Amino acid sequence: MLPPSSFLLAASLLAALPVNADGIYTKKSPVLQVTGKNYNSLIADSNYTSIVEFYAPWCGHCQSLKPAYEKAAQNLNGLAKVAAINCDEDENKPFCGQMGVQGFPTLKIVTPSKKPGKPRVEDYQGARTAKAIVDAVVERIPNHVKRATDKDLDNWLNQNEERPKVILFTEKGTTSALIRAMAVDFLGAADVAQVRNKESTSVKKFGITQFPALVVVPTGDAEPQLYEGELKKQPILEFLSEFAMPNPDASGKAASSTDSKAKTKTKSKASKPASKPSSTPDDDSTPDSNDEAEVKPAPVPIPVPPLPTLATPDSLETSCLAPKSGTCVLALLPEQGDALPASAIDALSNLANIAHKHAQRGTHLFPVYAIPDINSGSQTLRTALGLEDKQKVEVIALNARRGWWRHYVAEDDFSAIAIERWVDTIRLGEGEKEKLPEGLVGEAEKAKEAEHDEL
Ligand SMILES: *[C@@H]1O[C@H](CO)[C@@H](O)[C@H](O)[C@H]1NC(C)=O
Repeated sequence: MLPPSSFLLAASLLAALPVNADGIYTKKSPVLQVTGKNYNSLIADSNYTSIVEFYAPWCGHCQSLKPAYEKAAQNLNGLAKVAAINCDEDENKPFCGQMGVQGFPTLKIVTPSKKPGKPRVEDYQGARTAKAIVDAVVERIPNHVKRATDKDLDNWLNQNEERPKVILFTEKGTTSALIRAMAVDFLGAADVAQVRNKESTSVKKFGITQFPALVVVPTGDAEPQLYEGELKKQPILEFLSEFAMPNPDASGKAASSTDSKAKTKTKSKASKPASKPSSTPDDDSTPDSNDEAEVKPAPVPIPVPPLPTLATPDSLETSCLAPKSGTCVLALLPEQGDALPASAIDALSNLANIAHKHAQRGTHLFPVYAIPDINSGSQTLRTALGLEDKQKVEVIALNARRGWWRHYVAEDDFSAIAIERWVDTIRLGEGEKEKLPEGLVGEAEKAKEAEHDEL
């Protein structure tokens, strides 16, 4: 027999160890795990509504809440944040105290207010079912959606000229959680309105024949575009990201976990083209080889067309360096001796493949051009961006309208995977962008526009 004191010690160690080591939510859980340290950046400063569970792993009610809470997290994916904080962790204890937590679990709904970083925090007292939680949170998703009518739509379209406009045509009088969440995704970057089917002038003007319909009116003179994909958060977000930069936490970590809910079986790599190809082993649990076979377009032997070439400074300016040009990807070709170096050939063919793949799938990709060295515009760009080694091919992305550019830094790795990953970060608006130096974006165009404005 052990002496009682060491028995107690052993027992308390056993009880304490697993508890402190991990909370009740695993890494794969759709519930976002926060700490006292990152609570402000993830929750309090967010433009999204959140619900936060303050819990202790040893608490029975916390454990029984877990399935409902995870289900709520799946249902709210892309709409609001569902988070949990383990108040048993020493580093979180002071914070839980500060938040006035007196029992476990405590659920608080955190709603952004007009003052950034000063959200409204309320105790959630409702039923501890997924549905009740979802309803309470959805009700508090901020509404930045303009309800436009025939009378004021034009006026609204003419406001904030620098922002693209997104219009949902709908038969509904209410503003759905999805569209409200989308307006949050693009807060400050794109304006969102909802127009009812009975606003016949507007409906006619945009040629809408079916409801709901989602239309983007890009900035500048570009034609409005009808979104033709599924009315679901992730594909809409990707589509709109071609026109405006979503807020930093828009795509959310939960993006990959929701899909598992409604369509566990069809969860396919193709449905999340933006995630790093094959580098995330954490969702391999289901062998989806069958699904993939269904989802992949059949390998039709259409030859991949080469990238379009911009051979003159004018064409470069019109396509990518006009004040209202959107994102372009450019391959600046090296000085050409007898033949292009292998790196340039790889870059060109892999970029052409990516562009071709998107064209075949019908997904929107920004234009990709090859810029030969004889185009003096290429020299101007290289000099301005500090890419002066003319023996090297350089791949860059730039957006004249928004004034940023990005360099594909490759150490000669122009492999398909590496380039596609880079292109995907741009599609998602991720990664560091640099400021486009002054004087690159068409001065001639600017002058012309000033005239237009006066007319
Ligand atoms: C919140 O919205 C503002 C625009 O109103 C935006 O500038 C900011 O980046 C957003 N914050 C986050 C954390 O997304």
